[in-house]
Amino acid sequence: MKTTHVWCSGNLYRITIGSGALALMADELERLGFSGTIVVVTDENVAGLFGDEVERVLSGGAFTPRFIVIPPGEEQKSLDMAGMMYGRLNELGAERATPVVALGGGVIGDLVGFVAATYFRGLPLVHAPTTLLAQVDSSIGGKVAVNHGRLKNNIGAFHQPIAIITDTFVLAHLPEREFRNGLAEVIKTAMIADEAFFGCLESDINRLLERDVSVLERTVATTAGIKAAVVEEDERDTGLRNILNFGHTIGHGIESASAFSLSHGEAVAIGMVAASRIATSMGVLSTSVLDRLTGLLVRAGLPVTVPLSIDVDAVLRAMTRDKKMAQGRLRFVLPTSVGKVHIRNDVSTELVRETLERSHAVT
Ligand SMILES: NC(=O)c1ccc[n+]([C@@H]2O[C@H](COP(=O)([O-])OP(=O)(O)OC[C@H]3O[C@@H](n4cnc5c(N)ncnc54)[C@H](O)[C@@H]3O)[C@@H](O)[C@H]2O)c1
Ligand SMILES: [Zn+2]
Repeated sequence: MKTTHVWCSGNLYRITIGSGALALMADELERLGFSGTIVVVTDENVAGLFGDEVERVLSGGAFTPRFIVIPPGEEQKSLDMAGMMYGRLNELGAERATPVVALGGGVIGDLVGFVAATYFRGLPLVHAPTTLLAQVDSSIGGKVAVNHGRLKNNIGAFHQPIAIITDTFVLAHLPEREFRNGLAEVIKTAMIADEAFFGCLESDINRLLERDVSVLERTVATTAGIKAAVVEEDERDTGLRNILNFGHTIGHGIESASAFSLSHGEAVAIGMVAASRIATSMGVLSTSVLDRLTGLLVRAGLPVTVPLSIDVDAVLRAMTRDKKMAQGRLRFVLPTSVGKVHIRNDVSTELVRETLERSHAVT
């Protein structure tokens, strides 16, 4: 079991990471002084897999767990669903000090986090992330949100958890595509901040894909630690945190131009390679680094070129609508070597178009 501490908003919280960590949930919350009613919110898939275990662990400690189970899917991240949850919290007698556990992937984490941030102006939130993406990315950093209209994550808040319980054992159940979705963020994290970790991923990728218990635990802990360190430096997302958007400027454009037939991780993989090609064209990155990144993504089963079915103009249109603009210009995170990136506001639309079209051509 590994622990990482995060210092945010004047509070310190602990991330407990390892195979079997869910069994420690009651102990961890008792250590923080909680007991009595606790509300666990999860989706139907996760409830079927781990609901009984969490119920047993909490009841075996000082808690009376109450469950709210909702259908899975991004469409649940809505104000309507948040409204339904306020009603359920009221019925369950939740008070200002009642802890709420978000047991699930990023959808549950964002939605439950948003509800916890707003009900009684803030309930204690515990993240128990169950997808690779949620374990290495969405549970860390305090961003919580729902979608409204056609815009994603546009109604939100910052609400830091009191604890994160990350059980890597649960990843054994994750569908292959969801697992690879999270791997894209793992590779991104190594690429922006840690050359040695990138080298480990190159050596360990096969065992990681087999979900080897110790490689998985080490990989999740390292990635989560890097994200925690970045958000600690820039809690409110005004500077350093931008580096986490490596691959996301083009990635979001591709995700939306594919009408979401590509997963977020797949689009980010294509976006990271495109951003690196831009960096080589601008003379700030060597082609050998571009080849290393592409090689690792391919071995991880992720796409690296823009599918022919995707219209480059639609990608460019979606990119300019996206939030990653600084004073009307596209903001790009470009790598300069493995483990190092910098932010550029001077990437021309022409170069982006050329790069995407070239990527099309080699598909
Ligand atoms: N807050 C942030 O900083 C942040 C960062 C990145 C992404 N996000 C958000 O995260 C969301 C995506 O999260 P996600 O990729 O985890 O998707 P998700 O929450 O939809 O989960 C994917 C699927 O896996 C299932 N599942 C979850 N755990 C499982 C397990 N252990 N075994 C088997 N099935 C399991 C779920 O029921 C769901 O069907 C998006 O809404 C995105 O906006 C937020
Ligand atoms: Zn992402």
